[in-house]
Amino acid sequence: MNKNQDIVKLTEQNVASTYGRFPIALVRGKGTKVWDAAGKQYTDFVSGIAVDNLGHCHPAVVSAIRKQAGQLLHVSNLYHIESQSLLAQELTRHSFADKVFFCNSGTEANEAAIKLARRYFFDKGEKGRREIITMKDSFHGRTMGSISASGQKKLHTGFAPLLPGFRYVAFNNIQAVQKALSSKTCAVLVEPIQGEGGVNLPDKTYLKELKKLCAKNGSLLIFDEVQTAFGRTGKLFAYENFGAKPDIMTLAKALGAGVAIGAMAATNKVMKSFVPGTHAATFGGNPLACSAALAAFKVYTKAGFLEKTAQTGDYFIARLRQLEKSFSIVKEVRGIGLLLAMELKQPAGTIVEDCMDQGYLVNCIKQNILRFIPPLIITKKEIDGLIEILAQSLKNLQPA
Ligand SMILES: Cc1ncc(COP(=O)(O)O)c(C=O)c1O
Repeated sequence: MNKNQDIVKLTEQNVASTYGRFPIALVRGKGTKVWDAAGKQYTDFVSGIAVDNLGHCHPAVVSAIRKQAGQLLHVSNLYHIESQSLLAQELTRHSFADKVFFCNSGTEANEAAIKLARRYFFDKGEKGRREIITMKDSFHGRTMGSISASGQKKLHTGFAPLLPGFRYVAFNNIQAVQKALSSKTCAVLVEPIQGEGGVNLPDKTYLKELKKLCAKNGSLLIFDEVQTAFGRTGKLFAYENFGAKPDIMTLAKALGAGVAIGAMAATNKVMKSFVPGTHAATFGGNPLACSAALAAFKVYTKAGFLEKTAQTGDYFIARLRQLEKSFSIVKEVRGIGLLLAMELKQPAGTIVEDCMDQGYLVNCIKQNILRFIPPLIITKKEIDGLIEILAQSLKNLQPA
């Protein structure tokens, strides 16, 4: 047995089977490359699902972690933490938000957003405003509040009773939101681009229209940017592509560039409802995670970084569109920046395995949608390499 198989066995014997795992163990990473336990190299087009936006073990992040690890790992939020305050300052300087609450994951960030939205109206004396409108096919995480918010039945199955107060409407359908809004609506929660739902983009005006509708109805607008933030779409935050600002935004994944950290950012008007005793997280905003995130943030906001990402994204989608033209089993290529998808008219079959065999990691959602979310530092040459494998694999799948 090689080392991969040893680790696979160990996992199967001891770890909960909440993931369908590929039979390799990844043990090392550098830039866009990762290596398995048998020493095989892969070019990573998955990025730990939109986490490793800077590639693996970015030197600035590693150095910040090393330095912080030798200085202070954790203290309670009963005290001030400099790296937390500096990170919040960066996030607010570069976004619509005035204040930030830190936690450890995307689902926690969404729990915080749900609580804040409800508490805001409670404090205003509008106690009947508790309902949150969310989208069909959305994904907001796996805790009870977040699965209740997510508009996918398969996430709910077997976990009743769900948290009450959610209404699901079709994504990218402004009339559907208009119909659902009422004096009971406290917020509309939406991913600017649905990631897990299939890389679904809204029309250019959709988020702007949502903002207008929410303002008119006196409801809050919450953007879940857990998957889309930090350069993924060629902008720091995806909402910048659509000219609409929310009242609350949730973040995680690439915020720590590989270290677990989540955040919920909001305007002062709304965040003032979070007073001592309303919400907390022991590890939220700890020195280690914040130092890593701060170092990562400096790279995301370096002159030219996001522009380069957008250019790479344009190149990648153009290459995918060439495949779309050549293979009739490709239904659609879509996406923005380096959040891209190729939907097939049939299950993707062995494409993911073919890519793995040839040393490329790609992700497949809903059986027929290949999702490409590489580190933002991916090169054209690496993209060309993947395109070549995809072409061969599509050719094998395509009926003669
Ligand atoms: C849009 C969105 N929100 C929330 C989450 C949940 O994040 P986490 O797994 O860190 O809890 C995800 C994870 O994929 C996501 O894509």
